[in-house]
Amino acid sequence: MSGKVDSIHIRGGNALFGETQIQGSKNAVLPVMAAALLTEDVCVIENCPRISDVIHMQNLLTKIGCKLSRKGRNLVIDAREVSEDYMEGESVTGMRSSSMLLGAMLGRTGHITMAYPGGCVIGKRPIDMHLNALAKMGVVIEEKEGAFTAWAKRLEGNVIKLPFASVGATENIIMAAVKANGITIIDNAAKEPEIVTLCDFLQRAGAVIEGAGESLLMIKGVNKLHGIQFRIPGDRIVAGTYLFSVLGTGGHIFLKDAPTRQMLSVMRTAAMMGADIEISKEGLSVLAEPARIPIPYVKTEVYPGFPTDLQSPLMAVLSVGEGTCIIEETIFEDRFKMAQELAKMGAQIKIDGKQAFITGVPKLVGCEVSAGELRGGAGLVIAGCMAEGETVVKNRHFIERGYEDICRDYQNLGVNIYTG
Ligand code: EPZ
Repeated sequence: MSGKVDSIHIRGGNALFGETQIQGSKNAVLPVMAAALLTEDVCVIENCPRISDVIHMQNLLTKIGCKLSRKGRNLVIDAREVSEDYMEGESVTGMRSSSMLLGAMLGRTGHITMAYPGGCVIGKRPIDMHLNALAKMGVVIEEKEGAFTAWAKRLEGNVIKLPFASVGATENIIMAAVKANGITIIDNAAKEPEIVTLCDFLQRAGAVIEGAGESLLMIKGVNKLHGIQFRIPGDRIVAGTYLFSVLGTGGHIFLKDAPTRQMLSVMRTAAMMGADIEISKEGLSVLAEPARIPIPYVKTEVYPGFPTDLQSPLMAVLSVGEGTCIIEETIFEDRFKMAQELAKMGAQIKIDGKQAFITGVPKLVGCEVSAGELRGGAGLVIAGCMAEGETVVKNRHFIERGYEDICRDYQNLGVNIYTG
């Protein structure tokens, strides 16, 4: 980040009180933006979060030839014109979200050239499952120094068994299948809420899909889809981040438009830690004492298990208090990097392969720490809210990939926090 000050300052130690609005879901809106390409029409996406990953995807869609405009929280995508030659040799580089264009572009034009999407500090983030599945649908993939071209004369429905219930691979197969020839069955499909939202968007646009949210998904190819107006649900990971924050500081908060039905495993874990949770159709109320109940073990799993994206926020909370806890990370191979930053604040965490052994300490002490990726950065902000004194979290730009304005949200909850 040349020149631009890229930090967050937090004066911690206070309980959280207040209400904040939960933004639209990052992991739901990104595949929906890609799927708009398949409608060959104009789509209006409501409750679209203002985050850098969305801006990145907007830039990619514009590069491909779509016309995009923002009206407040609505994003208008005019996908009637897609200039295929734009993709000719044009490598779509950058973040992981570019991989979502794979299925959508193959379904739209039958052709895409792109660089392998970036890995990040939580793992290699390969797309082998995506490519193997698409090859079974008639896609030819040709690699060339760090990039590849994928094309298909005609996408053919097929039975695809995923070795792992990959969210991204499931999304790409769905987008390639909705206008393919015949029926596609995905065996061991991801069941995350973001899959249900993508299928909901596509069904409203005219797609024929059965089993959204189940392990067995059936898509029957149709000739045409049409544009729609569609609202993105609240972000379950952003809501879970703030929910765990109050378990770390104590207090009473209300999370407006939290997608509570998508948060059962998160609420169950919070309740085991002593949170008093109330659900209403407006959102989620959480009341917690400063001292939480110790829990011995948490394992991240595919949905509906405990989400890997909340593993770092939970680790920050568990670093203070009585007792020890083991967190087992089963989804990504390298998602404990935040522990070394928490140690600078006084946390006692030992990493052994897929497991983190956390020994609760009486308090954390604020200091300068560095975010290395999105959710680890959010975990450090939680630690700052809990810590005595001032904490400076550097590399705010990682957090801005998924949190619209984390300082605004925490200020709403009574935290002394600002960007600097
Ligand atoms: C999505 O990533 C989310 N990102 C992630 O959120 C989330 O953590 C993840 O799903 C799991 O829920 C978006 O939706 C944009 P996967 P994705 O394919 O699709 C391995 C956040 O913080 N794998 O389910 O990349 C992969 O390496 C982000 O918001 C392969 O080996 O997740 C990982 O270990 C982080 N080969 C595991 O599977 C493949 O072809 C889960 O990956 C694909 C995946």
